[in-house]
Amino acid sequence: MNEDASFNPEQFKANTREAWNMAAGGWNEHTPQVHQWLAAATQLMFDLANIKPGSRVLDVAAGAGDQALDAARRAGQTGYVLATDISATILDLARANAKKARVNNIDTKVADAENLGLPAACFDAAICRLGLMFCPNPVKSLQEMRHALKPGSRACVMVFSQPEKNPCIGILLRTAFKYAGLPAPDPYQPGGLFSVGKPGRLDELFVSAGFEGVSSRALSAPFSLPSANAYLEFIRNSASPIIHILNKVNEPDRASAWAEMEEKLGIFQTANGWQGPNELILTVGGKELI
Ligand SMILES: C[S@@+](CC[C@H](N)C(=O)[O-])C[C@H]1O[C@@H](n2cnc3c(N)ncnc32)[C@H](O)[C@@H]1O
Repeated sequence: MNEDASFNPEQFKANTREAWNMAAGGWNEHTPQVHQWLAAATQLMFDLANIKPGSRVLDVAAGAGDQALDAARRAGQTGYVLATDISATILDLARANAKKARVNNIDTKVADAENLGLPAACFDAAICRLGLMFCPNPVKSLQEMRHALKPGSRACVMVFSQPEKNPCIGILLRTAFKYAGLPAPDPYQPGGLFSVGKPGRLDELFVSAGFEGVSSRALSAPFSLPSANAYLEFIRNSASPIIHILNKVNEPDRASAWAEMEEKLGIFQTANGWQGPNELILTVGGKELI
């Protein structure tokens, strides 16, 4: 856990909830870009979690439901998805998106990933896309997923890998902390964007939570957009951790911070648009595998 004695996990999660309630609309509006960015990784996550027609799927930290809707389509009319998230606001959007897309085999439940409050052994698969790193106690979240899984089934989690492989996020965080007048914290600190991204870390957490047959793979997932400015537009409206840091900064300095980020992110401009490098880790583990 966090070595900072003043770190309060419950307060951290309350702040996270509040921040995602605020960023929910922006994240939802950027669903088409996020969908494209994570399309291949998301399908691999479904394959690894063994989602198939008829599967009952638990989606943790489901956000506005992009991957939940795809999982529901894959599970089909005989299957089902429960989309859970700590933010009620973002889950309202997930419900609206499901209705609009006429995907009706999906339910939502507002729940902290560390306390899902679900009965034991009622799901055939569990997924979590870019959510586990926000949990101050990720083992607890993985235990909650495992508890809800039927014996013989799998959970698959997608997170960002280490900072060196995700230089855009590094630029955003370093610049935001500099303008906030704060020292850049340990990138692997609990609850941060890279908190579970150190090589081997997520495997250890899965094993600690009781999973078997644990394995991980790294996946390159560049974010392709027309320009660095388009990336920053996404970040400004939907990336709750960066917004949260810059909220502490006065307006002129905040404008300077965004301008500096744009300049630095410009190095990823190519002849075919902007290509922000990103590396994801997909980790899978099973419950009581035979
Ligand atoms: C980056 S978004 C990802 C949303 C969605 N999975 C996707 O990929 O589009 C992170 C999500 O994690 C949720 N989250 C953060 N901390 C959480 C917690 N402790 N329990 C449940 N959800 C949490 C946020 O509310 C937010 O919806």
